[in-house]
Amino acid sequence: MKEQIGELQGQLQDYIDRLDAPKTLKDSMLYSLQSGGKRIRPLLLFATLEAFRKDWRAGLPVACAVEMIHTYSLIHDDLPCMDDDDLRRGKPTNHKVFGEAVAVLAGDALLTYSFQILSEAPPALLDDRKKILIISELARAAGPEGMVAGQTLDMEAEDRRISLAELESIHLHKTGKLISFCVKAGAILADADEKTQAKLSEFARRIGLAFQIRDDILDIVGKAEILGKNVGSDQSKKKSTYPALLSLEGADKKLEETIFAAKTILRELPLETSSLERITEQIWKREN
Ligand code: IPE
Ligand code: IPE
Ligand code: MG
Ligand code: MG
Ligand code: MG
Repeated sequence: MKEQIGELQGQLQDYIDRLDAPKTLKDSMLYSLQSGGKRIRPLLLFATLEAFRKDWRAGLPVACAVEMIHTYSLIHDDLPCMDDDDLRRGKPTNHKVFGEAVAVLAGDALLTYSFQILSEAPPALLDDRKKILIISELARAAGPEGMVAGQTLDMEAEDRRISLAELESIHLHKTGKLISFCVKAGAILADADEKTQAKLSEFARRIGLAFQIRDDILDIVGKAEILGKNVGSDQSKKKSTYPALLSLEGADKKLEETIFAAKTILRELPLETSSLERITEQIWKREN
């Protein structure tokens, strides 16, 4: 895992270093990219490849692309016009350091560059058929039917009582889609058959939801020093969250049920699932 994170970090740095772009923009992109995220999405992609006993390194360009999109989503999510947060990954948020305009542009750049990286990935790592499939899946997961849809619904659900079904849909979109993409991309790279892909999608849907339920819980019970972001952000914006709808105990219970369902699916898969199990456990118990 350490080796995977180290390799990913190095590749992200290389991708930014080689850009012929304004220094402020590169500095702002790197500031958020290299500030110690957990890298759970790349790790999930690598773990899926490992489940098929494939070399995780084959997933590096896709892992870098998804981490860039995730980082862009965080930069924009923290902006004053969105969640208006000051702390991210243990440091002042991008706009606090570089100003709002550069923060918006750094997000734009990370999003666009991720697709450049994928489309220019060496054929030895990504043949044309898989490349197009993965680009399409990533665009779907990140775009107006995916993460951006979830972020829009999340904004619209502020200050309002929504149903549990609506909340589940928000979480599955704003957070679940990118997480699901990582498992799907791993399965595509590993040439998984349709039946296995379908099972893995069910698993991914559940850990994606669980990830955001835990995020909601940590916004109440977490410690800023460990979390790397301020707590109480959701309440101050009257966000619709699992604890807000179900109470803290209800949210914990829902998280446990969701994790249990994910683990059950994993057990039914004829794959080497130990890394996926470890990540599932981490999603459940994480403190940051
Ligand atoms: C935070 O994601 C935003 C959500 C989708 C909940 P992470 O908790 O994965 O953030 P980093 O990448 O580790 O900073
Ligand atoms: C964010 O959800 C999901 C994204 C797509 C960035 P949150 O707004 O709850 O994420 P945090 O708590 O700020 O990391
Ligand atoms: Mg948000
Ligand atoms: Mg936020
Ligand atoms: Mg949150």
